[in-house]
Amino acid sequence: MAYAFSVTKDATELLDALNSSATHLMAGGLVAFPTETVYGLGASAEDESAVQKIYSTKNRPSDHPLIVHVAHVSDVAHFATEIPAYAHSLMQDFWPGPMTLILHRSENSGNFITGNQETVGLRVPNHPVALALLLAFKSQGGNGIAAPSANRYGSVSPTTAQAVEQELGEYLGEDDLILDGGSSEVGLESTIIDCTGPAPRILRPGAISAEMIEQSTSLKLNEAVDNEIRVSGSHAKHYSPRAKVLLSGTVTSGDGLIAMSEHPTPDGAIRLAAPETLDQFAAVLYAALREADERKLGTVHVIPPMGDGLAIAIRDRIGRAAS
Ligand code: TXA
Ligand code: MG
Repeated sequence: MAYAFSVTKDATELLDALNSSATHLMAGGLVAFPTETVYGLGASAEDESAVQKIYSTKNRPSDHPLIVHVAHVSDVAHFATEIPAYAHSLMQDFWPGPMTLILHRSENSGNFITGNQETVGLRVPNHPVALALLLAFKSQGGNGIAAPSANRYGSVSPTTAQAVEQELGEYLGEDDLILDGGSSEVGLESTIIDCTGPAPRILRPGAISAEMIEQSTSLKLNEAVDNEIRVSGSHAKHYSPRAKVLLSGTVTSGDGLIAMSEHPTPDGAIRLAAPETLDQFAAVLYAALREADERKLGTVHVIPPMGDGLAIAIRDRIGRAAS
C-alpha cells in the first residue's frame, strides 16, 4: 500500500495520482479515497473479484451490500431502474452530497454489490478528489466505484488518510493506494434513503435531514420498519472504538470527554473535543474517538447534543459506539 498523493502536492502530481488510481481500479485493485462524509475503500463496482477484496480487507460479512459511487446523476440509470419522481427531486437537490439512495437495481448491479437484494445503493459524493477519481475512472471505461467506509468491520469510520492507514494498512495489497484529500468535512456517513416505496424512508440518519427530504419531495416520510433491508450500520454494535463509551454517569479523573463546548471539563478528565456547533461535533466525533484509543483511555464519556437535523445523526452514531 502506498500514498498516491497528498493534498499538499502540486496539481500535476495530483492528476498523475488520479489517473494511476483509476488504472489500478480498472485492473481490479483497491483505492481508498476521501469523500465529504468519511473515507471509502473503493473497487470497480462491476468487478466481482475486486469487490471480494473489499470484503476480505474489511473483514466484512459478505451479505452486507455496498454503496456504488457515481460521478453524475446521469450514471444512475446504469445501475438502477424504476426511479420514482421523488428520487429525482432528491438527486437534484442534494447531489453531489452526503446522501445515498436505495433504488431497484438494474442488471448491471450484481449480487456481490447488493448482498443478493433487488436494490442497490447509489451516491454522488461531494469531494473534489472523489469526483475527479470517478471521472478519471469513467474516462478509462469504468462505471461506478463500490466503496464502504474504509475501516475494519465494526470499528470507527476514518475521516483522514492517516486513519485509513491505521485501520487497513496491514490488510491492503502492496499495489493498493490511499488518496489523501485532508479531513472529511461532514464527518458522518451519508443519509441512506430507501426510494423503493411510495414515499422515501430513512434507513440511516445523516447530514441530509428528514426535514430536508420532506421539503425536497413534498412527501411525508414513510417510517414503517422493514427488516428485509440490511444496513450494516444498523447493527447494534458498530462505529466502536476500543475504549468503553458512556453516555451518562460521572466523569472521573483519567476519563475522556467529548461534549459541546458549553459543558465544562471536570477536574482530571481529558477533553477530546469541545465543538461549538453541531457541524463541528459531527466533523470531530470520529477523530476524537480515535484519539481516545491512541491515548489508551479506558473510558470516554460523550454528552449527546440536543436538537433535530444533524443532532439526530450524531446521537445515532454515539448510541451505537456506546452499545
Ligand atoms: O457516507 C457514506 O455512505 C460512506 C462513504 C464512503 O460514501 N460509505 C459508507 O458505506 O458508509 P458503508 O458500507 O460503511 O455503509 C453503507 C450502508 C451499509 O450499512 C449497507 O448495508 C447499506 O449502506 N446499503 C448499501 N446498499 C444497500 C441496499 N441495497 N439496501 C439497503 N442498505 C444498503
Ligand atoms: Mg461503514
